[in-house]
Amino acid sequence: MQPKAPERSPRNVNRAGKASSGKVAVASDFLDVASVDVVLSTTRSVRRKLDFDRAVPPEVIHDCVNLATQAPTGLGGENWRFMVVADPEKKRSLAALYKTVLTDLAKQRGIEVKATQQALVDRLHEIPAMIFVCTTADRPGTEVAGQVAYYGSILPAAWSLMLALRARNLGATWTTLLSARQEEVAAVLGMPPGVVQTVMLPVAYTKDARLKKADRLDAAQVTYWDSWGSDSP
Ligand SMILES: Cc1cc2nc3c(=O)[nH]c(=O)nc-3n(C[C@H](O)[C@H](O)[C@H](O)COP(=O)(O)O)c2cc1C
Repeated sequence: MQPKAPERSPRNVNRAGKASSGKVAVASDFLDVASVDVVLSTTRSVRRKLDFDRAVPPEVIHDCVNLATQAPTGLGGENWRFMVVADPEKKRSLAALYKTVLTDLAKQRGIEVKATQQALVDRLHEIPAMIFVCTTADRPGTEVAGQVAYYGSILPAAWSLMLALRARNLGATWTTLLSARQEEVAAVLGMPPGVVQTVMLPVAYTKDARLKKADRLDAAQVTYWDSWGSDSP
């Protein structure tokens, strides 16, 4: 993958417009590990317990994007672009498209749409912000290394964005349904050719949400040491 040169905005200007190095060293022993662990273990899909009436301020989204872009990116490409949609008409079009994709998929696969997914679909047009995590990197070929570099240069930022949102009591869901309709989404949002949309996060402040740790396989079941299948160090 050959990352395109990013269009850079000045890096060394802080939000107050003052010049700064932008690089503040933080000693690791001051980290509040317990809070970090809570965020890492309770960032869940939030589809229902959302405040659809409370706007999400643009500066909060900027703060979260500034954390998301601390994620790794292949060859320092920084081909990520974050498309935030707050316009009611555009949200309505995108929500309708999302509903079509979900309904068709459920029909094709003969499965029922889960209540929680239905709840999100029913109110998606009301969500305060949809954030499409996009990349302008050249598309990879079919070989594994190219795919790993391509998605590995964008999806870590998307997950960091979800974590940063969670830390600010903003709920989101990792959705990929709209990625099946790249051209239609691009038409709604005026995206030029070459932009690829990956996940779309519907974002709102949480309301009465009690986010819990998920039930996952234990580390000992999924970790090998020195030889594949060897589960003890
Ligand atoms: C690759 C991927 C694609 C997903 N796409 C969607 C989607 O389009 N819509 C949706 O409501 N949830 C989507 N999800 C979320 C899952 O349906 C599911 O809610 C989530 O993984 C459950 O985990 P959680 O409880 O830890 O959030 C997706 C998850 C993954 C990993």
